[in-house]
Amino acid sequence: MSDTLSNLSHEDRRFEPPAPFAAHANVGEDVFADASADRLAFWAKAAERLSWDRPWDEVLDWSDKPFAKWFVGGRLNVAYNCVDRHVADGHGDQVAIQWEGEPEGHARAITYAQLKDDVCRAANTLVELGVQTGDRVAIYMPMIPETIVSMLACARLGAPHTVVFGGFSSSALSDRIIDCDARVVITADGGYRRGEPSALKPAVDEALAKCPDVRSVLVVKRTGQDVAWTEGRDVWWHDTVEQAATEHECEFFDSEHPLFVMYTSGTTGKPKGILHTSGGYLAQAAYTHWSVFDLKPDDDLYWCGADIGWITGHSYLVYGPLANRTTSLVYEGTPNYPDEHRFFDMIERHRVTILYIAPTLIRTFMKWGEDVPAGHDLTSLRLLGSVGEPINPEAWVWYRENLGGGRTPIVDTWWQTETGAMMISPLPGVSTLKPGSAIGPLPGIGADVVDNDGAPVGAGNGGLLVLTEPWPAMTRGIWGDPDRFRETYWERFAEQGYYFAGDGAKLDDDGDYWLLGRVDDVMNVSGHRISTTEVESALVSHPKVAEAAVVGATDPTTGQGIVAFVIPRGTGEGTEGDEFVQELRNHVATEIGKIAKPRQIMVVKELPKTRSGKIMRRLLRDVADHRELGDVTTLTDSSVMDLIQDKASSAP
Ligand code: PRX
Repeated sequence: MSDTLSNLSHEDRRFEPPAPFAAHANVGEDVFADASADRLAFWAKAAERLSWDRPWDEVLDWSDKPFAKWFVGGRLNVAYNCVDRHVADGHGDQVAIQWEGEPEGHARAITYAQLKDDVCRAANTLVELGVQTGDRVAIYMPMIPETIVSMLACARLGAPHTVVFGGFSSSALSDRIIDCDARVVITADGGYRRGEPSALKPAVDEALAKCPDVRSVLVVKRTGQDVAWTEGRDVWWHDTVEQAATEHECEFFDSEHPLFVMYTSGTTGKPKGILHTSGGYLAQAAYTHWSVFDLKPDDDLYWCGADIGWITGHSYLVYGPLANRTTSLVYEGTPNYPDEHRFFDMIERHRVTILYIAPTLIRTFMKWGEDVPAGHDLTSLRLLGSVGEPINPEAWVWYRENLGGGRTPIVDTWWQTETGAMMISPLPGVSTLKPGSAIGPLPGIGADVVDNDGAPVGAGNGGLLVLTEPWPAMTRGIWGDPDRFRETYWERFAEQGYYFAGDGAKLDDDGDYWLLGRVDDVMNVSGHRISTTEVESALVSHPKVAEAAVVGATDPTTGQGIVAFVIPRGTGEGTEGDEFVQELRNHVATEIGKIAKPRQIMVVKELPKTRSGKIMRRLLRDVADHRELGDVTTLTDSSVMDLIQDKASSAP
């Protein structure tokens, strides 16, 4: 972390908001004064952006800390807010989803009126499949409009969804289905990735062998691949949803009614089901999407490049944008299919005005070279966003120069699955931007950087990021595990009552925030959160592995890369060659998903351990990053490190 700190301290470029942008921005400087004068009144005003069937009696009830209740007593329907009310307000003909499939020519434009019909049809079908308010529905889908329709249909019925990223394996899928006890699964035969149909249904079939309680599987035909069929359980979307009635009367639910569960990696092997509820979540997702992206629903064409299977897709591709009546571009495939021009060609053809992507993609663009974006007219872009991992100043400046024409503000937005919505970010019409800095807490948000004892470090210093006040979109806990929720986030600074985010941060001399990455055993690979212990347990579940230690090594493109150290079982026979390493990489892909495949695996005889038996990951990180070893004096046997280093230097 100290290298990062000293690099950042040399960054002195500054970018003021362009005057014409500031003049028309949705929010100006005064928003901070408003929010600090009366934080709860500020959030109440933000919630008034939504349509409520019954107003709330109390803005915040924090009496059962850390389980917050926001807009207590209020009733609303999230899907109604995202779809129906825009149709009722005369915007039925506005395109909600401008969808592009990966194969050229696959495109659909879905208006708000059509979306309303589709959501009602899907809701009617789910009811026919026995889904009732409160039931969980798992969604395992490619990036197609039906995924959004499915989520909204669940929201309409008050049936919390759990969307599982399509890149996760069947065993990751079954773990999640079992954990939240979903009885219905929505999926597709497959989707298109890198020019090929990529199957999804077989993974569902495999997962469901372990989930006897799932009674129905609703299947969208996307690729036309052959699929195995379980009569009585599987139904086609086109035979059911597309035939269903477009009338569906929506019910209104309590503000705290569960909306979805999103699984994310923590520091232990088992992913946590992060629960979000309705009113507070939607209010903050919508308000931040409107203010941070300066969203103008009549003019903008907004593109969030995240997959719907992650929190960014939930809050800033589905709920925030639709609540704000946005026209969004949604893309199914990879950014470089059929070649590197695809991504930029889409910006040019659709006249995208606001783009929201992860630094890892920006660094991939940098590798492709500036000639690629230079070959396209990108002048429609007026605002760029970044999310998911720290953005290095060079990538920030490259993004602004080569996509933003040296004109556009960039909003580097820090938040988490648990926070539900953006927490720390510049406001594009207000903030003076610094490449690599997320600037500061948004209005209505309380944050700070503290030392190990919870004392503020003050400007010019680094420490741990905490959130000091409850916020509307905060998670309401871990599905089925309230104790783990308290322990993970609230115990560390219990005395102060702070939420511990798990990130390191530095405040510069102006008090602006610079995020430095995770301080726990969570890795960030291409903006995806993966825990070291999760990969370790996948590795030790292989019959030939006795022990494993996993670290995140610095990677110039993906931020971090997964490096594993593995001790084979017994004599170690058959574990010498590349074949074994390949077998282990594939094993991790089967256990978790391709995103968790280690970049490198070193087969070793011992791991560095302290006298109390704890693996010293710090030293393994030094090896993985080809750095000089730190202090080895606490090791039981320091010669272990010589062996590991020999191995590392002979590795390809
Ligand atoms: O380490 C931080 C990093 O991503 C983590 C949250 O990951 P996840 O729950 O998957 O949500 C990602 C999308 C919001 C954080 O703890 N992170 C996210 N955004 C940033 C970031 N790190 C630095 N700068 C960011 N803008």
